[in-house]
Amino acid sequence: MGAGAPCPEACACRVGSAEPPADTCAVIVAGGSGERFGDPRGKQFVELAGLPLMCWSIAAFEQAPSVARLVVVCAPDRAAQVEKDVLARLSLKKPVALAPSGATRQDSVLSGLGAVPRDLEFVAVHDAARPLVEAEMIEAAIAAVRQDPALAGAILATRSVDTLKLVEGTTIVATPDRSFYWAAQTPQVFRRRVLLAAHKAAARDEYLGTDDASLVERMGGKVRVVESSRDNIKVTLPEDLALAEAALERRLLG
Ligand code: CTP
Ligand code: MG
Repeated sequence: MGAGAPCPEACACRVGSAEPPADTCAVIVAGGSGERFGDPRGKQFVELAGLPLMCWSIAAFEQAPSVARLVVVCAPDRAAQVEKDVLARLSLKKPVALAPSGATRQDSVLSGLGAVPRDLEFVAVHDAARPLVEAEMIEAAIAAVRQDPALAGAILATRSVDTLKLVEGTTIVATPDRSFYWAAQTPQVFRRRVLLAAHKAAARDEYLGTDDASLVERMGGKVRVVESSRDNIKVTLPEDLALAEAALERRLLG
């Protein structure tokens, strides 16, 4: 095969090559109302280092070689704004589809999964409100699942640094061993079919989880953590924006 010719999917020259297969669809959920943040524009649209906040996470997925395409989930009445103020400003090379958000984050993810093509083996679900995610972190989570056939998924997470207390009312009931506790982030990467089945089961059972991994866990799927950076915060409260801005500036200044 001559230099520059397209490489078939199962081509042996991939073996040992540095470039991973493009076998993953990103589902970036941006359909929340940002009540705790409190800005009428919606936190995903506020400016962060010169761009609408959600641009930064989309750009990270654009740069991750394993990601073949993107699904952005947003409120139907914000679709035109996402096209104009977000997607048009990024001039993405990868195909992007929009999907309508639902009443809860979980509904939004399920909606996004409906726009994921069946020929992609993995799905990386990400909160648009985590603008500090980086392509290397995304790749690490995808690689973890790809490498281990026993895994249903892998999520980015950080070790708990604080001592944790189990509290009833205001009374401490227990001080669990902190070394067993991690704080979950996104992206959370899964085999597409496993995540879809877990979401459908949760909808059927009216089970509402706080992340995607919990839906897969309750179906018996094995999910591992991949240690992440504490910088990968979710912008939730107004003061988080300044933290995100400072971390981005540190990164951009090298
Ligand atoms: N999200 C979504 N659809 C929903 C709710 C949330 O797509 N119905 C998205 C948010 O846009 C965000 C991510 O899920 O990127 C994480 O949710 P969260 O931080 O809770 O954002 P909001 O729900 O917008 O904020 P709040 O809970 O303060 O209203
Ligand atoms: Mg919310």
